[in-house]
Amino acid sequence: MSGVPKKRDSFASKFGVIAATAGSAIGLGNIWRFPYVAGENGGGAFLIIYLSFVLLIGIPVMTSEFIIGRKSRRNVFGAFRKLAPGSYWYLIGLMGVVAAFMILAFYTAVAGWTLEYTYQSVVNGFEKLSSHELSGMYESFIGSPWKPLFWFFVFMLLTSLIIIAGVQRGIEKYSKILMPFLFVLLLILVVRSITLPGAKGGIVFLFKPDFSKITTSTILEALGQAFFSLSIGMGTLITYSSYFRKKEKLGSVAVSVAAADTFIAILAGIAIFPAVFAFNIEPNSGEGLVYITLPGIFQQMYGGYFFSIIFFVLLGVAALTSTTSVMEVIVAFFVEEFYLSRKAATLLTTLSVSILGVMCVLSTSTMADVKLFDFTIFGLMNFTSANILLPLGGFSIVIFVGWRMGRKKVYEELTNKGKLKAGYIPMFMFIVKFLAPLGITFIFLQGVGLIKL
Ligand code: TRP
Repeated sequence: MSGVPKKRDSFASKFGVIAATAGSAIGLGNIWRFPYVAGENGGGAFLIIYLSFVLLIGIPVMTSEFIIGRKSRRNVFGAFRKLAPGSYWYLIGLMGVVAAFMILAFYTAVAGWTLEYTYQSVVNGFEKLSSHELSGMYESFIGSPWKPLFWFFVFMLLTSLIIIAGVQRGIEKYSKILMPFLFVLLLILVVRSITLPGAKGGIVFLFKPDFSKITTSTILEALGQAFFSLSIGMGTLITYSSYFRKKEKLGSVAVSVAAADTFIAILAGIAIFPAVFAFNIEPNSGEGLVYITLPGIFQQMYGGYFFSIIFFVLLGVAALTSTTSVMEVIVAFFVEEFYLSRKAATLLTTLSVSILGVMCVLSTSTMADVKLFDFTIFGLMNFTSANILLPLGGFSIVIFVGWRMGRKKVYEELTNKGKLKAGYIPMFMFIVKFLAPLGITFIFLQGVGLIKL
């Protein structure tokens, strides 16, 4: 029953395509997650492994999603139904929708924190707090139910308003404004950070490889980080590329988006580590890095009041263009498969995600003791989606493109029916048929402990 909608919305400009897709990719994953994961895994050495995964696996998986999305012009479930009728491939699409529910629930919870921290920056709430007190503030904020719940709903509301406005008038329009804005904010922070006395240690840490820190778990971390950061493996990019125009060059969009995503992650590292070193803070202080460490740093630096506001606004903006992309996966599914209006679909999505989302939010307070497989609900959503569903989805997507769709259709999509040159296609086919599936399988089995090197 894959719906055939009257007229499908689409992104109207090349810049819109890049802004929206990069907007999905660039998010908390780059600014919140990347610096602390890199910090815990040996800085420069992690960076090298990460970069090779982006190149060898990330870009091919992203391109594969684009091929599936633009060829089918459907939501992630409908896409597999349409391209592989009468088979079980649609289950992969369904898994994508489920992953979207899970990611949206916990991601919006963290995104909500950025609003509280923006608010605290504005009212000067961090003033004169010691790092001990700042960590107490963080604990007590996430440890109480009401404020995080409030900000969670505000963030859901912002996301759904953009989605209701539509693909072109919502997602594309806001991405085109918010992404350049984010870039400027980040540059301001970078300049401030590298001009701090003692900043050099941070740059050295970020770029000088320490291979002794590399273990097998580092390698899984790097792959998971690459998938999460590039928004691949669950059909977000299948959904977005279903709105690309026929003339968009899929290969070049994938390379640009991956490059932008990586560049922003590195810039975030350059903005954060020099400051961390200048103020003598441990670079491996984990998830709290940006919420506990940075407010402390901002207070001690000249102009810190403004830089603190800039930073948390930046984090919120980055998160917003990502939450919209995840919500669109579910909304497109409801619209096309159940013939709902966009408004009704958005409302239904917001309400249903909120049920899971509230449980994620409360995982650090009233529901902290509710444990499944030793995880809180938040932890379970975070772990299962990123470390299991994304690799599984990514694996299935490359297998689908490499083995099921085959060379001829891939060629058609990547050359826009012969109009473009794409000399890289043989290499691409080799990667999606062999290298990427084997690589993902290997790293995945190793990571979950099923095989040991
Ligand atoms: N890539 C985003 C980030 O780095 C998060 C995100 C958006 C995502 N859509 C996704 C992650 C789909 C995995 C899958 O913050």
